Amino acid sequence: MLRKISGLVSHWIKILLISQDKTKYMNIQENISLKSLNTFGIAKNARFFIVADNIHVLMEALIWAKEKNQQVLILGGGSNILLTGDYEGLVIKIEIKGIALLKEDEEHVWIKVGAGEIWHDLVLYAIEKNWAGLENLSLIPGTVGASPMQNIGAYGVELKEVFESLEALNRSTFTIETFSGNACEFGYRESVFKHKFKNQYVICSVVFKLSKTPAYKVEYGAIQDILKEKGVNQLSIRDISNAVIAIRSSKLPDPKEIGNAGSFFKNPTIGTDQYSELRSIFPDIPGYPVENGVKVPAGWLIEQTGWKGKRIGEVGVHAKQALVLVNYGEGQGTDIIELSDQVRHSVREKFGIELQPEVNFI
Ligand code: FAD
Ligand code: EPU
Repeated sequence: MLRKISGLVSHWIKILLISQDKTKYMNIQENISLKSLNTFGIAKNARFFIVADNIHVLMEALIWAKEKNQQVLILGGGSNILLTGDYEGLVIKIEIKGIALLKEDEEHVWIKVGAGEIWHDLVLYAIEKNWAGLENLSLIPGTVGASPMQNIGAYGVELKEVFESLEALNRSTFTIETFSGNACEFGYRESVFKHKFKNQYVICSVVFKLSKTPAYKVEYGAIQDILKEKGVNQLSIRDISNAVIAIRSSKLPDPKEIGNAGSFFKNPTIGTDQYSELRSIFPDIPGYPVENGVKVPAGWLIEQTGWKGKRIGEVGVHAKQALVLVNYGEGQGTDIIELSDQVRHSVREKFGIELQPEVNFI
Protein backbone atom coordinates (compact mmCIF):
# COMPACT_ATOMS: atom_id res chain seq x y z
CA MET A 1 0.00 0.00 0.00
CA LEU A 2 2.75 2.44 1.11
CA ARG A 3 4.74 1.52 -1.98
CA LYS A 4 1.71 2.33 -4.16
CA ILE A 5 1.23 5.73 -2.48
CA SER A 6 4.90 6.61 -2.87
CA GLY A 7 4.64 5.55 -6.52
CA LEU A 8 1.63 7.82 -7.05
CA VAL A 9 3.32 10.78 -5.33
CA SER A 10 6.37 10.33 -7.55
CA HIS A 11 4.10 10.21 -10.58
CA TRP A 12 2.42 13.52 -9.64
CA ILE A 13 5.81 15.12 -9.04
CA LYS A 14 6.91 13.89 -12.45
CA ILE A 15 3.86 15.45 -14.14
CA LEU A 16 4.38 18.70 -12.22
CA LEU A 17 8.00 18.85 -13.31
CA ILE A 18 7.28 18.07 -16.94
CA SER A 19 4.83 20.97 -17.04
CA GLN A 20 7.56 23.44 -16.03
CA ASP A 21 10.49 24.88 -17.92
CA LYS A 22 13.01 22.90 -15.90
CA THR A 23 16.15 24.65 -17.06
CA LYS A 24 14.91 27.73 -15.17
CA TYR A 25 15.08 25.86 -11.89
CA MET A 26 17.93 23.48 -12.46
CA ASN A 27 21.55 24.33 -12.08
CA ILE A 28 22.88 22.33 -15.00
CA GLN A 29 26.45 23.34 -15.78
CA GLU A 30 28.26 22.73 -19.04
CA ASN A 31 31.76 21.41 -19.83
CA ILE A 32 32.79 20.66 -16.26
CA SER A 33 36.14 19.04 -15.49
CA LEU A 34 35.80 15.69 -13.72
CA LYS A 35 39.49 15.53 -12.73
CA SER A 36 38.87 16.22 -9.04
CA LEU A 37 35.71 14.06 -9.07
CA ASN A 38 37.37 10.72 -9.88
CA THR A 39 40.07 9.23 -7.66
CA PHE A 40 42.13 8.12 -10.69
CA GLY A 41 42.47 11.88 -11.33
CA ILE A 42 41.73 11.43 -15.04
CA ALA A 43 41.30 14.83 -16.69
CA LYS A 44 38.10 14.42 -18.67
CA ASN A 45 35.02 16.63 -18.92
CA ALA A 46 31.29 16.22 -18.53
CA ARG A 47 29.21 17.81 -21.30
CA PHE A 48 26.52 18.55 -18.67
CA PHE A 49 26.81 18.35 -14.89
CA ILE A 50 24.49 18.76 -11.92
CA VAL A 51 24.65 18.07 -8.19
CA ALA A 52 21.52 16.35 -6.84
CA ASP A 53 21.16 16.93 -3.11
CA ASN A 54 17.55 15.73 -3.01
CA ILE A 55 15.27 13.37 -4.88
CA HIS A 56 13.35 16.16 -6.62
CA VAL A 57 16.46 17.62 -8.24
CA LEU A 58 17.48 14.08 -9.17
CA MET A 59 14.12 13.48 -10.88
CA GLU A 60 14.19 16.84 -12.64
CA ALA A 61 17.66 16.10 -13.94
CA LEU A 62 16.69 12.63 -15.16
CA ILE A 63 13.60 13.97 -16.91
CA TRP A 64 15.67 16.76 -18.48
CA ALA A 65 18.16 14.19 -19.79
CA LYS A 66 15.35 12.04 -21.17
CA GLU A 67 13.78 14.99 -22.98
CA LYS A 68 17.12 16.10 -24.38
CA ASN A 69 18.10 12.54 -25.26
CA GLN A 70 21.24 12.72 -23.13
CA GLN A 71 22.84 9.67 -21.53
CA VAL A 72 23.27 9.87 -17.75
CA LEU A 73 26.15 8.96 -15.46
CA ILE A 74 25.34 8.67 -11.77
CA LEU A 75 28.41 9.71 -9.81
CA GLY A 76 29.24 9.20 -6.15
CA GLY A 77 32.80 9.76 -4.98
CA GLY A 78 34.26 8.59 -8.32
CA SER A 79 36.45 6.02 -6.53
CA ASN A 80 35.48 3.00 -8.60
CA ILE A 81 35.30 4.39 -12.13
CA LEU A 82 37.73 4.76 -14.99
CA LEU A 83 36.94 7.61 -17.37
CA THR A 84 37.93 6.47 -20.85
CA GLY A 85 36.93 9.75 -22.54
CA ASP A 86 34.88 12.92 -22.07
CA TYR A 87 31.37 12.15 -20.88
CA GLU A 88 29.02 13.22 -23.67
CA GLY A 89 25.91 13.41 -21.54
CA LEU A 90 24.69 14.49 -18.10
CA VAL A 91 26.68 13.60 -14.98
CA ILE A 92 24.52 13.66 -11.85
CA LYS A 93 26.59 13.81 -8.69
CA ILE A 94 24.62 12.35 -5.80
CA GLU A 95 24.81 14.40 -2.61
CA ILE A 96 21.61 13.31 -0.87
CA LYS A 97 22.52 13.54 2.82
CA GLY A 98 21.07 12.50 6.16
CA ILE A 99 21.25 9.79 8.79
CA ALA A 100 18.02 8.83 10.60
CA LEU A 101 17.47 6.29 13.36
CA LEU A 102 14.46 4.27 12.15
CA LYS A 103 14.02 1.91 15.08
CA GLU A 104 15.91 0.01 17.73
CA ASP A 105 15.52 -2.94 20.05
CA GLU A 106 17.78 -4.33 22.76
CA GLU A 107 20.25 -5.76 20.28
CA HIS A 108 20.09 -3.67 17.12
CA VAL A 109 19.57 -0.27 15.54
CA TRP A 110 18.24 0.37 12.04
CA ILE A 111 19.52 3.53 10.40
CA LYS A 112 18.54 5.05 7.07
CA VAL A 113 21.38 6.85 5.37
CA GLY A 114 21.30 9.21 2.39
CA ALA A 115 23.15 7.98 -0.70
CA GLY A 116 25.41 11.04 -0.74
CA GLU A 117 26.84 10.51 2.75
CA ILE A 118 30.57 9.77 2.70
CA TRP A 119 31.09 6.10 3.54
CA HIS A 120 33.94 6.56 6.03
CA ASP A 121 32.06 9.39 7.82
CA LEU A 122 29.22 6.91 8.34
CA VAL A 123 31.66 4.34 9.75
CA LEU A 124 33.06 6.92 12.21
CA TYR A 125 29.54 8.03 13.16
CA ALA A 126 28.56 4.41 13.95
CA ILE A 127 31.73 3.89 16.00
CA GLU A 128 31.02 7.10 17.93
CA LYS A 129 27.54 5.72 18.78
CA ASN A 130 29.08 2.33 19.61
CA TRP A 131 27.00 0.62 16.91
CA ALA A 132 28.96 -2.32 15.55
CA GLY A 133 29.18 -3.81 12.07
CA LEU A 134 30.90 -1.24 9.88
CA GLU A 135 34.30 -1.03 11.59
CA ASN A 136 36.08 -3.53 9.31
CA LEU A 137 34.95 -1.42 6.35
CA SER A 138 36.80 1.68 7.62
CA LEU A 139 38.45 4.05 5.17
CA ILE A 140 36.86 2.69 1.99
CA PRO A 141 36.49 5.78 -0.19
CA GLY A 142 33.21 6.79 -1.81
CA THR A 143 29.60 7.23 -0.90
CA VAL A 144 26.92 5.21 0.87
CA GLY A 145 24.81 5.08 -2.30
CA ALA A 146 27.53 3.26 -4.21
CA SER A 147 28.25 0.77 -1.43
CA PRO A 148 25.59 -1.77 -2.51
CA MET A 149 26.63 -1.49 -6.18
CA GLN A 150 29.52 -3.88 -5.69
CA ASN A 151 28.69 -5.04 -2.17
CA ILE A 152 31.85 -3.40 -0.83
CA GLY A 153 34.05 -5.60 1.28
CA ALA A 154 37.28 -5.58 3.23
CA TYR A 155 39.05 -7.39 6.05
CA GLY A 156 36.54 -10.21 6.44
CA VAL A 157 33.28 -8.25 6.12
CA GLU A 158 30.97 -7.45 3.21
CA LEU A 159 28.27 -4.81 3.06
CA LYS A 160 25.55 -7.47 2.77
CA GLU A 161 26.18 -8.48 6.40
CA VAL A 162 24.92 -5.12 7.71
CA PHE A 163 22.51 -4.34 4.89
CA GLU A 164 18.76 -4.27 5.56
CA SER A 165 17.27 -2.60 2.45
CA LEU A 166 17.64 0.29 0.04
CA GLU A 167 15.43 2.72 -1.79
CA ALA A 168 16.16 3.39 -5.42
CA LEU A 169 14.60 5.59 -8.05
CA ASN A 170 13.53 3.65 -11.13
CA ARG A 171 14.89 5.68 -14.05
CA SER A 172 12.07 4.59 -16.41
CA THR A 173 9.00 4.84 -14.20
CA PHE A 174 10.29 7.56 -11.83
CA THR A 175 8.96 5.62 -8.87
CA ILE A 176 10.84 4.79 -5.70
CA GLU A 177 11.30 1.05 -5.18
CA THR A 178 12.52 -0.79 -2.09
CA PHE A 179 15.06 -3.61 -2.44
CA SER A 180 15.72 -6.21 0.25
CA GLY A 181 19.11 -7.91 0.52
CA ASN A 182 17.79 -10.88 -1.47
CA ALA A 183 16.51 -8.61 -4.22
CA CYS A 184 19.97 -7.04 -4.52
CA GLU A 185 21.50 -10.48 -5.29
CA PHE A 186 24.76 -9.58 -3.58
CA GLY A 187 27.86 -11.55 -4.44
CA TYR A 188 31.61 -10.96 -4.26
CA ARG A 189 31.91 -7.38 -5.64
CA GLU A 190 28.54 -7.91 -7.32
CA SER A 191 24.91 -6.87 -7.15
CA VAL A 192 21.90 -6.75 -9.39
CA PHE A 193 22.68 -3.07 -10.10
CA LYS A 194 25.89 -3.96 -11.93
CA HIS A 195 24.23 -6.35 -14.39
CA LYS A 196 20.50 -7.10 -14.67
CA PHE A 197 19.51 -3.57 -13.64
CA LYS A 198 22.60 -1.73 -14.89
CA ASN A 199 21.84 1.99 -15.37
CA GLN A 200 18.20 1.44 -14.43
CA TYR A 201 18.14 2.70 -10.85
CA VAL A 202 19.57 5.47 -8.73
CA ILE A 203 20.14 4.39 -5.16
CA CYS A 204 18.80 7.16 -2.92
CA SER A 205 19.20 5.72 0.58
CA VAL A 206 20.36 2.59 2.36
CA VAL A 207 19.09 1.08 5.63
CA PHE A 208 21.71 -0.63 7.79
CA LYS A 209 21.12 -2.96 10.72
CA LEU A 210 23.88 -2.45 13.26
CA SER A 211 24.53 -4.23 16.54
CA LYS A 212 24.60 -2.85 20.04
CA THR A 213 26.67 -5.87 21.07
CA PRO A 214 29.68 -6.25 18.77
CA ALA A 215 30.69 -9.55 17.18
CA TYR A 216 34.34 -8.75 16.51
CA LYS A 217 35.74 -9.97 13.19
CA VAL A 218 39.47 -10.31 13.62
CA GLU A 219 40.24 -13.39 11.50
CA TYR A 220 42.27 -11.34 9.03
CA GLY A 221 45.87 -11.97 10.08
CA ALA A 222 47.15 -8.41 9.85
CA ILE A 223 44.38 -7.13 12.16
CA GLN A 224 45.48 -9.62 14.81
CA ASP A 225 49.13 -8.62 14.36
CA ILE A 226 48.36 -4.94 14.92
CA LEU A 227 46.14 -5.59 17.94
CA LYS A 228 48.91 -7.73 19.45
CA GLU A 229 51.57 -5.13 18.65
CA LYS A 230 49.46 -2.41 20.32
CA GLY A 231 48.82 -4.66 23.32
CA VAL A 232 45.03 -4.29 23.04
CA ASN A 233 43.34 -6.40 25.71
CA GLN A 234 39.86 -4.91 26.00
CA LEU A 235 38.89 -4.99 22.33
CA SER A 236 36.56 -2.28 20.98
CA ILE A 237 35.16 -1.52 17.53
CA ARG A 238 37.35 1.57 17.48
CA ASP A 239 40.46 -0.64 17.95
CA ILE A 240 39.41 -2.69 14.93
CA SER A 241 38.73 0.43 12.88
CA ASN A 242 42.14 1.86 13.83
CA ALA A 243 43.86 -1.43 12.92
CA VAL A 244 42.11 -1.51 9.53
CA ILE A 245 43.04 2.13 8.90
CA ALA A 246 46.68 1.35 9.73
CA ILE A 247 46.81 -1.67 7.38
CA ARG A 248 45.11 0.19 4.54
CA SER A 249 47.33 3.24 4.92
CA SER A 250 50.45 1.05 4.81
CA LYS A 251 49.73 -0.47 1.39
CA LEU A 252 46.97 1.34 -0.48
CA PRO A 253 47.92 4.63 -2.15
CA ASP A 254 46.05 7.73 -0.98
CA PRO A 255 44.18 9.00 -4.08
CA LYS A 256 44.98 12.57 -2.98
CA GLU A 257 48.64 11.74 -3.66
CA ILE A 258 48.53 9.05 -6.37
CA GLY A 259 45.49 8.49 -8.58
CA ASN A 260 43.90 5.04 -8.22
CA ALA A 261 40.59 3.24 -7.78
CA GLY A 262 41.65 0.58 -5.26
CA SER A 263 41.83 -2.98 -6.58
CA PHE A 264 41.68 -2.78 -10.35
CA PHE A 265 40.84 -6.47 -10.78
CA LYS A 266 38.74 -8.93 -8.78
CA ASN A 267 40.39 -11.89 -7.12
CA PRO A 268 39.64 -14.79 -9.50
CA THR A 269 38.01 -18.06 -8.45
CA ILE A 270 39.39 -21.14 -10.19
CA GLY A 271 38.41 -24.80 -10.06
CA THR A 272 40.01 -27.05 -7.46
CA ASP A 273 41.66 -29.15 -10.19
CA GLN A 274 43.24 -26.12 -11.84
CA TYR A 275 44.39 -24.93 -8.42
CA SER A 276 46.02 -28.30 -7.63
CA GLU A 277 47.75 -28.28 -11.00
CA LEU A 278 49.08 -24.76 -10.46
CA ARG A 279 50.16 -25.69 -6.96
CA SER A 280 52.32 -28.48 -8.34
CA ILE A 281 54.16 -25.89 -10.48
CA PHE A 282 53.98 -22.92 -8.07
CA PRO A 283 54.03 -24.46 -4.57
CA ASP A 284 53.63 -21.01 -2.91
CA ILE A 285 50.45 -20.02 -4.74
CA PRO A 286 47.98 -18.80 -2.11
CA GLY A 287 44.34 -19.87 -2.33
CA TYR A 288 41.22 -19.78 -0.17
CA PRO A 289 38.44 -22.35 -0.58
CA VAL A 290 35.16 -20.75 -1.63
CA GLU A 291 31.78 -22.17 -2.61
CA ASN A 292 32.64 -22.92 -6.24
CA GLY A 293 36.40 -23.48 -6.14
CA VAL A 294 39.47 -21.66 -4.84
CA LYS A 295 39.93 -17.90 -4.70
CA VAL A 296 43.44 -16.81 -5.64
CA PRO A 297 44.78 -13.34 -4.75
CA ALA A 298 45.23 -11.46 -8.04
CA GLY A 299 47.89 -9.30 -6.33
CA TRP A 300 50.06 -12.39 -5.90
CA LEU A 301 49.56 -13.48 -9.53
CA ILE A 302 50.47 -10.01 -10.80
CA GLU A 303 53.50 -9.76 -8.53
CA GLN A 304 54.77 -13.12 -9.85
CA THR A 305 54.64 -11.82 -13.42
CA GLY A 306 57.03 -9.04 -12.45
CA TRP A 307 54.62 -6.13 -12.88
CA LYS A 308 54.65 -4.92 -9.27
CA GLY A 309 56.13 -1.41 -9.06
CA LYS A 310 56.55 -1.08 -12.84
CA ARG A 311 55.80 2.27 -14.45
CA ILE A 312 54.93 2.99 -18.07
CA GLY A 313 54.91 6.72 -18.67
CA GLU A 314 52.29 8.29 -16.46
CA VAL A 315 50.69 5.07 -15.21
CA GLY A 316 51.89 1.99 -13.36
CA VAL A 317 51.35 -0.91 -10.97
CA HIS A 318 51.57 0.19 -7.33
CA ALA A 319 54.82 -0.79 -5.63
CA LYS A 320 53.16 -1.89 -2.36
CA GLN A 321 50.04 -3.59 -3.77
CA ALA A 322 50.15 -5.13 -7.23
CA LEU A 323 46.36 -5.21 -7.55
CA VAL A 324 46.25 -1.43 -7.65
CA LEU A 325 46.92 0.40 -10.93
CA VAL A 326 47.96 4.01 -10.49
CA ASN A 327 47.97 7.29 -12.36
CA TYR A 328 51.03 9.39 -11.50
CA GLY A 329 49.35 12.56 -12.73
CA GLU A 330 48.77 13.04 -16.41
CA GLY A 331 47.72 9.49 -17.34
CA GLN A 332 44.60 8.92 -19.42
CA GLY A 333 41.97 6.22 -19.04
CA THR A 334 43.26 4.67 -22.25
CA ASP A 335 46.77 4.41 -20.73
CA ILE A 336 45.32 2.53 -17.76
CA ILE A 337 43.38 0.21 -20.09
CA GLU A 338 46.52 -0.53 -22.13
CA LEU A 339 48.46 -1.28 -18.96
CA SER A 340 45.67 -3.47 -17.58
CA ASP A 341 45.57 -5.40 -20.87
CA GLN A 342 49.30 -6.09 -20.59
CA VAL A 343 48.95 -7.21 -16.97
CA ARG A 344 46.05 -9.49 -17.86
CA HIS A 345 48.03 -10.92 -20.76
CA SER A 346 51.01 -11.73 -18.50
CA VAL A 347 48.79 -13.43 -15.90
CA ARG A 348 47.00 -15.40 -18.62
CA GLU A 349 50.30 -16.53 -20.15
CA LYS A 350 51.90 -17.57 -16.87
CA PHE A 351 48.95 -19.05 -14.98
CA GLY A 352 46.14 -19.56 -17.50
CA ILE A 353 43.92 -17.37 -15.35
CA GLU A 354 41.73 -14.60 -16.76
CA LEU A 355 41.55 -11.48 -14.59
CA GLN A 356 38.31 -9.48 -14.60
CA PRO A 357 38.28 -5.76 -13.85
CA GLU A 358 36.56 -4.62 -10.69
CA VAL A 359 36.51 -0.98 -11.74
CA ASN A 360 33.61 0.39 -13.86
CA PHE A 361 34.76 1.68 -17.26
CA ILE A 362 32.88 4.81 -18.32
P1 FAD B 1 31.60 5.83 -7.90
O1 FAD B 1 32.98 5.49 -8.28
O2 FAD B 1 31.17 7.24 -8.02
O3 FAD B 1 30.59 4.91 -8.73
C1 FAD B 1 30.83 3.55 -8.87
C2 FAD B 1 29.68 2.93 -9.69
O4 FAD B 1 28.47 3.03 -8.96
C3 FAD B 1 29.42 3.69 -10.99
O5 FAD B 1 28.98 2.76 -11.95
C4 FAD B 1 28.30 4.66 -10.65
O6 FAD B 1 27.52 5.01 -11.77
C5 FAD B 1 27.50 3.84 -9.64
N1 FAD B 1 26.84 4.65 -8.61
C6 FAD B 1 27.43 5.48 -7.72
N2 FAD B 1 26.50 5.99 -6.88
C7 FAD B 1 25.31 5.46 -7.25
C8 FAD B 1 23.98 5.61 -6.78
N3 FAD B 1 23.67 6.39 -5.74
N4 FAD B 1 23.00 4.93 -7.42
C9 FAD B 1 23.27 4.15 -8.49
N5 FAD B 1 24.51 3.98 -8.98
C10 FAD B 1 25.52 4.62 -8.36
N6 FAD B 1 36.05 -1.20 -2.63
C11 FAD B 1 35.80 -2.25 -1.82
O7 FAD B 1 34.79 -2.94 -1.99
N7 FAD B 1 36.66 -2.59 -0.83
C12 FAD B 1 37.77 -1.90 -0.57
O8 FAD B 1 38.53 -2.23 0.33
C13 FAD B 1 38.06 -0.77 -1.39
N8 FAD B 1 39.19 -0.04 -1.21
C14 FAD B 1 39.45 1.02 -2.00
C15 FAD B 1 40.62 1.77 -1.77
C16 FAD B 1 40.93 2.86 -2.55
C17 FAD B 1 42.18 3.63 -2.27
C18 FAD B 1 40.04 3.25 -3.58
C19 FAD B 1 40.34 4.46 -4.42
C20 FAD B 1 38.88 2.51 -3.84
C21 FAD B 1 38.59 1.38 -3.05
N9 FAD B 1 37.42 0.61 -3.26
C22 FAD B 1 37.15 -0.45 -2.44
C23 FAD B 1 36.51 0.91 -4.37
C24 FAD B 1 35.46 2.02 -4.05
O9 FAD B 1 35.87 2.79 -2.97
C25 FAD B 1 34.10 1.45 -3.76
O10 FAD B 1 33.63 0.69 -4.85
C26 FAD B 1 33.06 2.54 -3.46
O11 FAD B 1 31.87 1.96 -2.99
C27 FAD B 1 32.76 3.42 -4.66
O12 FAD B 1 31.98 4.51 -4.22
P2 FAD B 1 31.85 5.84 -5.05
O13 FAD B 1 30.80 6.67 -4.39
O14 FAD B 1 33.17 6.48 -5.22
O15 FAD B 1 31.30 5.28 -6.43
N1 EPU C 1 49.54 -10.22 -2.56
C1 EPU C 1 50.79 -10.31 -3.08
N2 EPU C 1 51.35 -9.21 -3.66
C2 EPU C 1 50.69 -8.03 -3.72
C3 EPU C 1 49.40 -7.93 -3.20
C4 EPU C 1 48.83 -9.05 -2.62
O1 EPU C 1 51.43 -11.36 -3.04
O2 EPU C 1 51.27 -7.07 -4.27
C5 EPU C 1 48.92 -11.41 -1.95
C6 EPU C 1 49.42 -11.75 -0.56
O3 EPU C 1 49.49 -13.14 -0.51
C7 EPU C 1 48.28 -11.32 0.35
C8 EPU C 1 47.08 -11.54 -0.53
O4 EPU C 1 47.54 -11.27 -1.86
O5 EPU C 1 48.21 -12.06 1.50
C9 EPU C 1 45.89 -10.66 -0.24
O6 EPU C 1 46.30 -9.29 -0.29
P1 EPU C 1 45.48 -8.18 0.48
O7 EPU C 1 45.19 -8.61 1.86
O8 EPU C 1 46.19 -6.88 0.30
O9 EPU C 1 44.09 -8.14 -0.23
P2 EPU C 1 43.68 -8.25 -1.75
O10 EPU C 1 43.11 -9.60 -1.98
O11 EPU C 1 44.78 -7.81 -2.66
C10 EPU C 1 41.23 -7.56 -1.26
C11 EPU C 1 40.23 -6.59 -1.81
C12 EPU C 1 40.49 -5.21 -1.26
C13 EPU C 1 40.37 -5.25 0.25
C14 EPU C 1 41.39 -6.25 0.80
C15 EPU C 1 41.27 -6.46 2.29
C16 EPU C 1 39.53 -7.43 -3.95
C17 EPU C 1 39.58 -7.29 -5.42
N3 EPU C 1 40.26 -6.58 -3.25
O12 EPU C 1 42.50 -7.18 -1.79
O13 EPU C 1 39.48 -4.34 -1.77
O14 EPU C 1 40.58 -3.98 0.81
O15 EPU C 1 41.18 -7.54 0.16
O16 EPU C 1 40.16 -7.23 2.58
O17 EPU C 1 38.83 -8.31 -3.46
C18 EPU C 1 38.95 -2.89 -3.57
O18 EPU C 1 38.00 -3.65 -3.80
O19 EPU C 1 39.18 -1.86 -4.24
C19 EPU C 1 39.87 -3.23 -2.48
C20 EPU C 1 40.93 -2.49 -2.18
